[in-house]
Amino acid sequence: MAANLHDIATSGEVVIQGATIHYQGPNGPVQVLSATDLTLSSGSFTALIGPSGCGKSTLLNAIAGFVRPSGGTIRVDGRPVTGPSPEVGVVFQQYALFPWFTARGNIEFALKRFGLSRAERREAALEALAEVGLHGRAETYPGQLSGGMKQRVALARTLASKPKVLLMDEPFGALDAQTRVSMHELLLRVMDAHRSTVLFVTHDVDEGLVLADRAHVMSATPGRIIDTLELGERRNRSVDKVDTAYIANRNRIMGLLRHREDEPAAALPRRATA
Ligand SMILES: Nc1ncnc2c1ncn2[C@@H]1O[C@H](COP(=O)(O)OP(=O)(O)OP(=O)(O)O)[C@@H](O)[C@H]1O
Ligand SMILES: [Mg+2]
Repeated sequence: MAANLHDIATSGEVVIQGATIHYQGPNGPVQVLSATDLTLSSGSFTALIGPSGCGKSTLLNAIAGFVRPSGGTIRVDGRPVTGPSPEVGVVFQQYALFPWFTARGNIEFALKRFGLSRAERREAALEALAEVGLHGRAETYPGQLSGGMKQRVALARTLASKPKVLLMDEPFGALDAQTRVSMHELLLRVMDAHRSTVLFVTHDVDEGLVLADRAHVMSATPGRIIDTLELGERRNRSVDKVDTAYIANRNRIMGLLRHREDEPAAALPRRATA
């Protein structure tokens, strides 16, 4: 079947060197990303945390090939990113499922560009649905699924193509707290099997700390990385374990975000009044 897809050796190293990004504003180009250096090593899980508008999605979209940097380079396994590629999968907050296709049909449709036979697409779709615990929902339409289930279908759709790099832009932002926790557990389990390189964008400090083995904190105007935290091997951590290192990391990030709260683009937690 999709043996060729399944056998792709995951490397998926992302190297960003001096990438700057400008958008066209009413009075000319506006810089939204300062010259940024960032390496996502093969199989690592990196969180990108920062206030609204600091450029998290912009950076993610540049790695995905949707946005072209105005300077610098972005390479995946040494090859410059020139546009979207099947090696780099993206999961957005909005599920973007076609309502007229079943869960299986949505995944099969996304696999069409790989030149697989109909039977191969079907097998890959069912396998991916099983991975996210939805094998019994293959013939269900998105309108009949909960938000968490829709996002699991969207994740399965991306995983079915075995991307070397998985970019996730606030994928669980629309879900309730309890569903988010089960999605975190699912994602960690699935990524342990896939070993893709993951970049996970979030506003939520706790979500970043629970999932990632490294976190970058961004600040706005223009966007830049202001701190990097090594969080250790995520497999040694359980989702509900909060230890002193966790609290120290959380305090460090919250302090950084509070420190920047006066910046215009920031939507940040309020400074505690002592
Ligand atoms: N297509 C665009 N054209 C012009 N400006 C844009 C465009 N997309 C984003 N911007 C601006 O770039 C900056 C960064 O936006 P971006 O969406 O990357 O932020 P973000 O960190 O992902 O925010 P959020 O957490 O709210 O999703 C913002 O000031 C935004 O207004
Ligand atoms: Mg965003």
